[in-house]
Amino acid sequence: MNKYLVIGNPIKHSLSPVIHNHWYKMHNEDAIYEKKKVDEEELEDLISDVKSGKISGINVTVPFKNSVIKHLDILSEIAEATQSVNTIYKYNGNIYGHNTDCEGFALSLIQTKFKTQGKTAFILGAGGVTSSIIYSLKLRGVSKICVSNRTKQKAENLKKLFPEIEILDWGKKPSNFDIIINTTSLGLKENDKIEIDFSDCKDKLFYDLIYSRKTNFLKEREILNYTKNGMSMFIFQAQIAYESWFGYKPSIEDNLWELLLN
Ligand code: ATR
Repeated sequence: MNKYLVIGNPIKHSLSPVIHNHWYKMHNEDAIYEKKKVDEEELEDLISDVKSGKISGINVTVPFKNSVIKHLDILSEIAEATQSVNTIYKYNGNIYGHNTDCEGFALSLIQTKFKTQGKTAFILGAGGVTSSIIYSLKLRGVSKICVSNRTKQKAENLKKLFPEIEILDWGKKPSNFDIIINTTSLGLKENDKIEIDFSDCKDKLFYDLIYSRKTNFLKEREILNYTKNGMSMFIFQAQIAYESWFGYKPSIEDNLWELLLN
């Protein structure tokens, strides 16, 4: 039986095992997918396990999407551009790192029928997934991207990767952006609030990458704006990761959301 893993710290909240094991069953794959909480020192041994065939593939989540890179042989173009890896596998003896968050996010915007060409985007956060969102928006022709993060240095680091982005101090009121995306972890807890005045953004798309709950960030805006949570991005990035490992796309049925939310 082939073994797959999602690694991170914390990892308890991850729904990746639910979706992948569901697909294995559906497509009769002799495989199992587990979650594993790891420390940075364990990354090297885990990658050796992929090399030896003990593990067939790994998904990577917070906070290792960047730090895992030094243990890999080859990066896909997107992983290289974003310096972020969420999918690992062996091919022709080499360990590959790929990033499926970019395409997952793009597909979720297409599903929403949000046209990105020429639009402006405001991004909250500068954590492990933010470079994927920026790269994805850039590829889809967004005309302006502004990032705001509590720790300004991390936004400045993103600017080294993407010199065209603008930076706004955390807490400052953004002007009129077409899409406002929360990539921070603020919202994972019930009482989390993002204390920023968005009153200049009316009738816009508010997108929260958090998929496990309806965050206050979305709740507070759903009457006057369009809102979207991270569930479809989560499903699409998992589908592309699965395809990297098995060579075909598993199907996304209508009841998958219910399965994941229950
Ligand atoms: P990492 O920072 O290790 O990559 P992450 O979950 O990918 O982890 O990112 C967490 C993001 O949520 C960061 O942008 C973080 O801001 P800092 O860079 O200032 O830490 C943001 N975040 C988490 N808690 C926050 C809070 N209470 N207020 C504002 N931003 C917060």
